[in-house]
Amino acid sequence: MEATTLGVNRTGASSSPDGAQAMAEAVATLSPPTDIDMSGSEAFHVSYISDAESVGSIPPPPSLKGVVKSGIAKLKGGSPSIFMDKIGERIAFERGGTRLYEALITKYTALTDRDGESLMPAEEALASQDDMEIEAVMDESPLQTLERIRAEELGHFQMLVRAMEQLGGDPTAQTPCADVTATASMGLIQVVTDPRTTLAQSLNAMLTAELTDNAGWELLAQLAEEAGESELTGKFLGALSQEQEHLRVIKAWLATLVSERAGTEAV
Ligand SMILES: [Fe+2]
Repeated sequence: MEATTLGVNRTGASSSPDGAQAMAEAVATLSPPTDIDMSGSEAFHVSYISDAESVGSIPPPPSLKGVVKSGIAKLKGGSPSIFMDKIGERIAFERGGTRLYEALITKYTALTDRDGESLMPAEEALASQDDMEIEAVMDESPLQTLERIRAEELGHFQMLVRAMEQLGGDPTAQTPCADVTATASMGLIQVVTDPRTTLAQSLNAMLTAELTDNAGWELLAQLAEEAGESELTGKFLGALSQEQEHLRVIKAWLATLVSERAGTEAV
């Protein structure tokens, strides 16, 4: 059984009481009598921030003709470029989400093969969760659920690519928010692809991704509505409802897995 085990771990102070005591004494003896003035360091950081350029830019629409007819020029409201930037961000995130689920499928399959049993909580355990709306999952094996979610993430990516094209934008361009969100997500893929992480630890990373994904789709649907793009609003709300189901599934799996383990093993 995959588990988080007790073992030799010397990261805590309690593993070396003498060393911890010596460190506390050194702090008391060697600390300066007054607080260290950090204002010089802060001013240095502030000067960097005020002089910094932005993280990339949004490419101008390639076809002016297409733009005037059907693209960004007819968008209403605040700032069309922010809308395009956010679509670029979701393109990056859904592509990354597809990769995350691929990595999770690999991990799940490897651990299940190794241990000879499904590691995901049984249907009865899922049904005992507060949320009783996980109907789709009840008719699928855990692997089928993971593959379906992966396909939905890919479908969202493809839908967004078409949306970007409709607006006259370049779906292959990395927009500033796409760049930033990729940086923010780097730890998630590292967790799931690390051979040593457990399924529960991987699901915890997926939970971070799905929570962010849900909030991202809510915002994108709102921006589409404000831009007067009713067709896109409908598509984005459709994606949001699928993402809400992903979130419920991941949360339920994680909660059941962790609480099962907590009752039987060291977590
Ligand atoms: Fe999702």
